[in-house]
Amino acid sequence: MNGEFSLESNPLSISFAGLTLANPTILASGILGYSAESLNRVAKGGAGAVVTKSVGIAPRAGYSNPTVVQAESGLINAMGLPNPGIEVYSEEIRFSKTVLRVPVIASVFGYSAEEYAVVAKRAVEAGADAVELNVSCPHVKQTGAEIGQSPKFLSEVVQTVKAAISKPLIVKLSPNVADITVLARAAVEAGADALTAVNTLKAMAIDAETMRPILSNVRGGLSGAAVKPVALRCVYDIHEALGDVPVVGCGGVANWRDAVEFFLAGASAVQIGTAVAENTEVFQAVTKGVETYLRRKHYGSVKEIVGLAHRK
Ligand code: FUM
Repeated sequence: MNGEFSLESNPLSISFAGLTLANPTILASGILGYSAESLNRVAKGGAGAVVTKSVGIAPRAGYSNPTVVQAESGLINAMGLPNPGIEVYSEEIRFSKTVLRVPVIASVFGYSAEEYAVVAKRAVEAGADAVELNVSCPHVKQTGAEIGQSPKFLSEVVQTVKAAISKPLIVKLSPNVADITVLARAAVEAGADALTAVNTLKAMAIDAETMRPILSNVRGGLSGAAVKPVALRCVYDIHEALGDVPVVGCGGVANWRDAVEFFLAGASAVQIGTAVAENTEVFQAVTKGVETYLRRKHYGSVKEIVGLAHRK
């Protein structure tokens, strides 16, 4: 190959929904701020793709502090979707595309189907390689999970965004529902090319001394190791119900074994979020560990093990 890197010959390379990644690890939305510089740091650290923080149509300040609290095995956050608005953020996406060597996935939110579509279209015009719909933020009113928990609203948003963009559309689902497969099916039937499972679990923390909730917003979203079994079950349920629809696993991935468990449940790739805050080398470590695992188990690629836990 004359020293040339070929994705086809790389056992870790994966393709889903029209995207090709050199490895199956993706930076989850909401980690490390907005700048192209911080996204590039993660890409250079080994992420196969990056998802931006969620951006809306207009600037939004978010909630006041405290916005993050450490839980027993994870973090509870309620930032309140702070963002500079798509007009300003488009410049950052444009700049990202000049420096990053991995796909950039824009996470977008809105307060109506039309708003989601406008933001998604602007992100794609700025160069985003794909769009991830945040229809699952568990604590901001009139957006996020308030849309993603209703098959009817979810379908409307997905259909409207799909008609507005020509790039892959990924829908990030909420775990805070009775049956995630109902929402997964609604999203796919409305045109989603892939699903991310899952966003954070609705949670809270109370300080015994002050006798008050800790987060300024009271309720937030739990991420990290504590949510992994829930996220894994969601991926398994979706794969069982919808078969070959590409799913990106998200929730508590911190090492290669976590990633492998998600592949076996049916995920084609994994997003890593909370673990990045502690270890910026996590992408490389996960990828290396998955490669060693595949060799030890005599598999030639990640895609060969996707969904294997479903074998009878
Ligand atoms: O508070 C936040 O900005 C969280 C967003 C999300 O969970 O999607």
